[in-house]
Amino acid sequence: MPSPQSQSLDVRTALKQGIHLLREAHVPSDTLAAELLLLHVTRRDRTWLYAHPEELLDPQSIQSYFSLLHRRATGEPTQHLTGKQEFWGLDFEVTPDVLIPRPETEHLIEVALDRLAVRELRSGRDPKLTGEDLTIVDIGSGSGCIAIALAKELPSAKIYATDISSAALSIAQRNATRLGFPNRITFLESNLLSAFSDVGARYIVPVLGTHSSSNLSSSGPLVFDLIISNPPYIGRKEASTLPTEVRDHEPASALFGGEEGYELYGQLIPQAALHLKPGGLLVLELGRDSLPAVRPLLETPPWANLHVTNDLARIPRVLSAERA
Ligand SMILES: C[S@@+](CC[C@H](N)C(=O)[O-])C[C@H]1O[C@@H](n2cnc3c(N)ncnc32)[C@H](O)[C@@H]1O
Repeated sequence: MPSPQSQSLDVRTALKQGIHLLREAHVPSDTLAAELLLLHVTRRDRTWLYAHPEELLDPQSIQSYFSLLHRRATGEPTQHLTGKQEFWGLDFEVTPDVLIPRPETEHLIEVALDRLAVRELRSGRDPKLTGEDLTIVDIGSGSGCIAIALAKELPSAKIYATDISSAALSIAQRNATRLGFPNRITFLESNLLSAFSDVGARYIVPVLGTHSSSNLSSSGPLVFDLIISNPPYIGRKEASTLPTEVRDHEPASALFGGEEGYELYGQLIPQAALHLKPGGLLVLELGRDSLPAVRPLLETPPWANLHVTNDLARIPRVLSAERA
């Protein structure tokens, strides 16, 4: 392939060369990746890309485009190169400090909203939810995608988001502000739900957002209507089977739940039982093989109304239950 810097390139040719380069390197979704990188360097949208195939790219754009293509070809995720990923119709900033939001995680939001609406119906209330009187926590918030999607859908809900990683919390906080939800979510550094226990509340470091730790500790353990989480669920023993863009570029604390992968559910589920109101909901994302290990934990009291929801690939992806 001729040196990109030495030639003038139109949009169509640049795209073709980009796809070719990525295909040769066996990059998955090569066409989409080349498109996204070209859109990123030209700061245009897809409509422009296909409406102006003859347009010549300036030398700086050509150089940046081929530099990003080479980085993608050697394993960097496209989202780290463009700095963003869409989730629930919103553009999230992503960095190597957070998991790149995955499309299947949107099922978690759907299940949570559906089950909250059913709860309203059962109580004879309007199932059109605003979130009034609802207190929600997203455990392991990462980029903030779940908490922020819920803030969008439930404008009156009180929402907390925790993560064990302070670096992830900073990104989540930035996303909340940039996407128009600056004071809607309280971000807490916490190991699972420990920030909400009597003891844990005294050790919240740091508290981001608008609420202070003294608010939490003085009111005792918080009791939630919804606890939602996409915890790390890959087994360390599977690390060598992961694609390099995942294993070498996404945070280990966001990927691995233990040697087997499902260990964190065993800690989170009993904690959730202590922090949900009667009738409160627990909604968990599952890994590809997590169901047999996790379902039994929710088949005993105080849990009831257990549901498994498959994703579009028919993988059991969401496990949800009610605290009886
Ligand atoms: C799979 S990622 C999910 C991120 C985001 N919620 C999403 O769906 O894209 C798991 C997140 O849990 C956090 N995490 C890992 N262990 C944790 C723990 N013990 N307590 C709280 N958060 C934890 C990681 O830092 C990571 O951000």
